[in-house]
Amino acid sequence: MRYPIATESKSDASDESGHLSKLDALEARRTAAQLGGGEARVEAQHKRGKLTARERLARLFDEGSFTETDTFVTHRSTDLGLDKQRFEGDSVVIGYGTIDGRSVFAYAQDFTVLGGSLSQVAAGKITKVMDHAMRTGAPIIGINDSGGARIQEGIDSLAGYGEIFKRNTLASGVIPQITIIAGPAAGGAVYSPALTDFIYMVEGIGQMYITGPDVVKSVTGEDVSHEELGGAAVHASQSGVAHFTAESEDACFADVRRLLSFLPSNNAESPPVVDPTDTPDRADPALRDVVPDAASQPYDVMDVITKIVDNADFLPVHHNFAPNIVVGLARLDGRVIGIVANQANQMAGMLDIDASDKGARFVRFCDAFNIPLVTFVDVPGFMPGTQQEYGGIIRHGAKLLYAYVEASVPKMAVILRKAYGGAYIVMSSKELRSDVNLAWPGSEIAVMGPEGAVNVIGRRAIADAEDSDAKRAEMVDDYRERFANPYVAANRGYIDDVIDPAQTRPELVKALRMLENKVDSLPPKKHGNIPL
Ligand code: HXC
Repeated sequence: MRYPIATESKSDASDESGHLSKLDALEARRTAAQLGGGEARVEAQHKRGKLTARERLARLFDEGSFTETDTFVTHRSTDLGLDKQRFEGDSVVIGYGTIDGRSVFAYAQDFTVLGGSLSQVAAGKITKVMDHAMRTGAPIIGINDSGGARIQEGIDSLAGYGEIFKRNTLASGVIPQITIIAGPAAGGAVYSPALTDFIYMVEGIGQMYITGPDVVKSVTGEDVSHEELGGAAVHASQSGVAHFTAESEDACFADVRRLLSFLPSNNAESPPVVDPTDTPDRADPALRDVVPDAASQPYDVMDVITKIVDNADFLPVHHNFAPNIVVGLARLDGRVIGIVANQANQMAGMLDIDASDKGARFVRFCDAFNIPLVTFVDVPGFMPGTQQEYGGIIRHGAKLLYAYVEASVPKMAVILRKAYGGAYIVMSSKELRSDVNLAWPGSEIAVMGPEGAVNVIGRRAIADAEDSDAKRAEMVDDYRERFANPYVAANRGYIDDVIDPAQTRPELVKALRMLENKVDSLPPKKHGNIPL
């Protein structure tokens, strides 16, 4: 326990009676509070390869801009020896500052104080800074490094979590909420991060799980390490809980700053517009050759995206999770856009459960924060099989449909090659309230691919034919000729235009400008019932 009191310090500024001046006392107290749980604990934190809460905030924010508040808050508990473990500031550092000159609020759990465990007053500090962020319409960043509920405080700590979860939920869609996991996040504590928009995990030090390895072992018999159970790689690729990983804390802070550069401060603002440094009408003939003619040949849709957006600058979100769909942020003509694209080189770009969830969540984020959507379509359909059906592909796929229909931001789509069946409808089709729908000349917009279609509608004719292989080939050619092109859809206005791939950027820039003042709304309701 440290209570920096005036009589412990020496100062030249003592008055005649030998007491420190009030200012010196304040300074001494503040300096001592900066040490959190004390020097030994700070050293132990560094030995674990982790920065302290205050070091983290100083590096995350613009230099010297972070202002800490509630430095002198202490807990009031006396149970189980807590009266002898009282630290100024308790187990979290809160405050505000600027990132790229824009106002941002933050809290960082201080592991040096009782393992960063959440006391009633620590929860009070966190909810205080969340309330400030909401009232002033600025993003909030939470840096998590905590042993969870402060065991000695029991129900008061749990209630504190409840207060935080409530605010996370009420702030959802109002201000961007970003989480950095830079230490343990265990038990119900993980639900605050899970309610935020983006989770970053620092490799090696960030771990999230509902129950730790010991409980897992006793309940299921599984032997699993902390890292295997809830490390950054697992959550970024398998569970999809984390959106980003970073190899170090500094790399993580740089990534968070970059993400914020794409986001408005709140849902009443537009995302920041920058002076375009890339020519709006830049055509790129290389786009004519990126997508192979053969419908089954893979290619990297990143090559399409980077040739179209400003300065080839694209920030993928959820990069390692459900790689068969790519989502992320970029700029077009200096304006922020959200991109959703089927990735042909992963499972042929098919939509499965994870891809549907990933796409739907991103579309809803963009819609909530006024970010126009651009969708690049090359999708053979939904993934077949018992694994997907039993997992509820119907329910999950419906989320993506729901998200696109609900989104009222400007919506543009470009069909690059295949757009078959239900997957054609899902991927920002005209019928889902998309504004501008374009197709490349080689695209095939149909209920299904030619081979699959002929297998269904030509079964009898093929069986009856003298040369069934020749009959099948003839029917496939005929189907391809009639349906597997963009012109049937364009004839009916489902597609607004068929364009030269080289002109995709200029066409999208024109459409985005045209849609700048788009106003759209939903029928009045309390809220919809997205199929969760
Ligand atoms: C009080 C805690 C604490 C906690 C850690 N400490 N967790 N104090 N409440 N929850 C203290 C330790 O006693 C220790 O103090 C100091 O913090 C550092 O912890 P260590 O164990 O030495 O650190 P390390 O070895 O790095 O292990 C970190 C850890 C471990 C993995 C987080 O401490 C741990 O398992 N803690 C308990 C986790 C847990 O079960 N939490 C409750 C989850 S349930 P001393 O003085 O001895 O150094 C929950 C419910 C939330 O959170 C519900 C929300 C609805």
